[in-house]
Amino acid sequence: MKIAVVGMGYVGSVTAAVLAEAGNSIYAVDIDPMKIESLKNGKPLIHEPGLEEILQANKERFTFSTSYEGIRGCDICILCVPTPNSSGRIELKYVLEAAKRAGEIKPGITLVIKSTVLPGTASRVASETKLTVVSNPEFTSEGRAVNDTRHPNRIVIGSGDSGAAQMVADLWKFTASPVLITNNANAELIKYASNSFLATKISFINEIANLCEKIPGADVSVVAKGMGYDRRIGSEFLRAGLGYGGSCFPKDTQALIGFASDMNERLSVVEAAMTVNSAREQRVLDLCKSALGGNLDGGKICVLGLSFKNDTDDLRESKSLTLISKLEGEGAQVRSFDPIVKGNSQKNHCDTLKECVSGSELVVIATEWPEFKESLTDFHGTIVDARRILDPGSVTKYRGVGLYSG
Ligand code: UDX
Repeated sequence: MKIAVVGMGYVGSVTAAVLAEAGNSIYAVDIDPMKIESLKNGKPLIHEPGLEEILQANKERFTFSTSYEGIRGCDICILCVPTPNSSGRIELKYVLEAAKRAGEIKPGITLVIKSTVLPGTASRVASETKLTVVSNPEFTSEGRAVNDTRHPNRIVIGSGDSGAAQMVADLWKFTASPVLITNNANAELIKYASNSFLATKISFINEIANLCEKIPGADVSVVAKGMGYDRRIGSEFLRAGLGYGGSCFPKDTQALIGFASDMNERLSVVEAAMTVNSAREQRVLDLCKSALGGNLDGGKICVLGLSFKNDTDDLRESKSLTLISKLEGEGAQVRSFDPIVKGNSQKNHCDTLKECVSGSELVVIATEWPEFKESLTDFHGTIVDARRILDPGSVTKYRGVGLYSG
């Protein structure tokens, strides 16, 4: 098929790449000329494992452009533009603008909304553009987005037009994943409900972690393992730590709460998940404080990991960054290191882990990069493992989130 993809961010570039790999021709649009120039050379501006290789291997299937004109030759247009948070509500202007422009260039084109939008958005876009609108939310995780797009757990398609829904189902047939075809509102809500549920799972285990810290002998990682064997619970998203960050969970939970409250409904479970999450940095700060004898002033602290999770350079809503400013607020001298985020605005950012760790009294593991595991065996100060990736016995002095320490 000839497919237009609008918005070359994390979602759009990976969607375009995987659809090209499946044999489609892609007309990829973004308003940012730098992004387009870089993609034309097969080099994405973001770090996403596997993406560059697909772009290089399928060069002839792509046309990258800052102009919407080429949409005229496409059968379908997939919107992957951002829906940022605007005072607790989602900002729809990019979706509406892109939809209108696509409809002006090619009246009658089938529009697919992959951007995360609240229930009612597809029907609003349809009434403003007179286009057939299919909702097709993505469930990809940054850092694993290529694999998630090639092999999603499920494909959710929402539309009032069964022909258009089938066309989108056919587009993703190569994934061999289960397909749910429903209406737009259900498809839109599935995305928010899924992200809010996952965020709740993380906050739940983080509260159990708080409790474990008070129970002699308790360790949240063992408790989570035992819970996870129950298939009804599942082992994923039960890693206690510094809490969730990133461009999705914080924004989506907040948007869902706001959306519900507009309809006089209160999502108290999701609210609680947010409250627990916002207290995580303080909790880890307190662990650091107690490890340094109750005072962080002048403490030499090394923070490992800056992005919101491993395998991405994305700093949006990064818990590590807020922890660093809290530590600095208490007078600590903080140095940081990240395997892929380089030369960022952090004052004392080190190029190597060795440089960051040397001379520090305390190391905080703020992001779950597996490579940190092997690199700390020679460090003899205290390690605060805020992501529970180390074996407590493998280092000299260990303090972990959710681990009783007396
Ligand atoms: C998430 C969803 O997983 C994805 O389906 C959706 O499309 C977009 O939002 P992403 O934001 O890329 O993806 O990251 P994810 O891997 O879900 O992690 C989110 C945050 O939760 C990270 O900060 C991570 O460190 C944290 N996390 C995750 C935990 O603290 N514990 C866990 O057990 C899992």
